[in-house]
Amino acid sequence: MLSFDGIAPAYFCLTKINAKDSMKAAVIDQRGGLPHYTEFPDATVQNEDEVLMTVEAAAIKHIDRSRASGAHYSGNAADSGQAIVIGGDGVGILADGSRVYAMGLRGMVAEQAAIDKNRMVSVPAQLDNATAAALPNAIIGAAMGLRFRAAIQPGDVVLVNGATGFTGRVAVQIARYYGAKKVIATGRNPKSLQDLLALGADEVISVQQDDDAFVAQIRALHSHSPIDIIIDYLWGHSAELVLTALKGKGSFTHPVRFISVGSMTGDKIQLSAESLRSVNLQISGSGLGSWTRSEVSKLFSEILPEMFQLAANGQLTIETVIVPLADIGSIYNVALPDGKRLVIDMK
Ligand SMILES: NC(=O)c1ccc[n+]([C@@H]2O[C@H](COP(=O)([O-])OP(=O)(O)OC[C@H]3O[C@@H](n4cnc5c(N)ncnc54)[C@H](OP(=O)(O)O)[C@@H]3O)[C@@H](O)[C@H]2O)c1
Repeated sequence: MLSFDGIAPAYFCLTKINAKDSMKAAVIDQRGGLPHYTEFPDATVQNEDEVLMTVEAAAIKHIDRSRASGAHYSGNAADSGQAIVIGGDGVGILADGSRVYAMGLRGMVAEQAAIDKNRMVSVPAQLDNATAAALPNAIIGAAMGLRFRAAIQPGDVVLVNGATGFTGRVAVQIARYYGAKKVIATGRNPKSLQDLLALGADEVISVQQDDDAFVAQIRALHSHSPIDIIIDYLWGHSAELVLTALKGKGSFTHPVRFISVGSMTGDKIQLSAESLRSVNLQISGSGLGSWTRSEVSKLFSEILPEMFQLAANGQLTIETVIVPLADIGSIYNVALPDGKRLVIDMK
């Protein structure tokens, strides 16, 4: 569950429930367990900044699984030892009938959720629930890094390392929208690499080739049209190779901003000090804890509304797999191929 202030939210204990004060929900009883479809105490508001939302759809992302299992650095829901509703964000209807995207304060994959009324975004009428529920995490993973950590400018050359996943596909499209002159996409799945050409990538590079060939291909592209920004979803070995490809020979080098956003292939890398000194390189990360309050505020006031409108206009495309709430246990850990996002339908 996202908590921009880094405060672990409190969770409801699954105690005595009667039919009047309970809702259907996807609940994890203990850290690391699978969620199951069950009755859970109704969501309630705890202060004047909170409002209740009738949830229509919620996306399941890596951060949801990571927090529920206790593995995410931002803290985890299951530490309380109490049963919790899973999921961090989704789309639903407020008491006044308006349809909004929001982050659940104490879980989102349920018929109801308490949300922060200062951190919600109207969903355009043309945008379906599943797309509006699935997009924001990827927008955060793409736009926050591109805009605030990399300070992307029109004309920049952007390399997306690990672009074949859901967030990478969105990053390719947003980099293009922000005016990138050239987008280079690396990844594993050959079909997805081809899809990326249609989504705005100019060049695709397989991470599954021989290390030397991978480095040589990036080095050749970098010497022809110097890379300004690297957005990385993999870390691990491929990130080491990308950094190796930038290594200079003691002469002037082109400035490169390397932004770590995900770590699908490992949490650690080896970085040679010589390589680091040989190039004009800034390495930073984009994630919970790295953004300023003002950047998070812009996410809700500017970035998400703008991206929702792009998606509503058909200029930002994603694919979702929609599954009913009752099936949560069987679908939760299924790896969806080809950059699709799992969305739970609550209706
Ligand atoms: N910091 C943030 O704000 C933020 C926001 C969103 C996401 N993220 C992080 O970004 C990462 C990607 O998220 P996502 O939503 O795009 O996940 P996703 O849709 O599941 O995609 C995962 C990606 O990792 C690739 N991958 C996995 N194992 C690989 C391997 N051994 N070699 C090469 N590629 C491999 C997959 O390649 P294939 O397509 O070949 O399977 C796919 O491209 C995650 O670590 C996530 O937590 C961070």
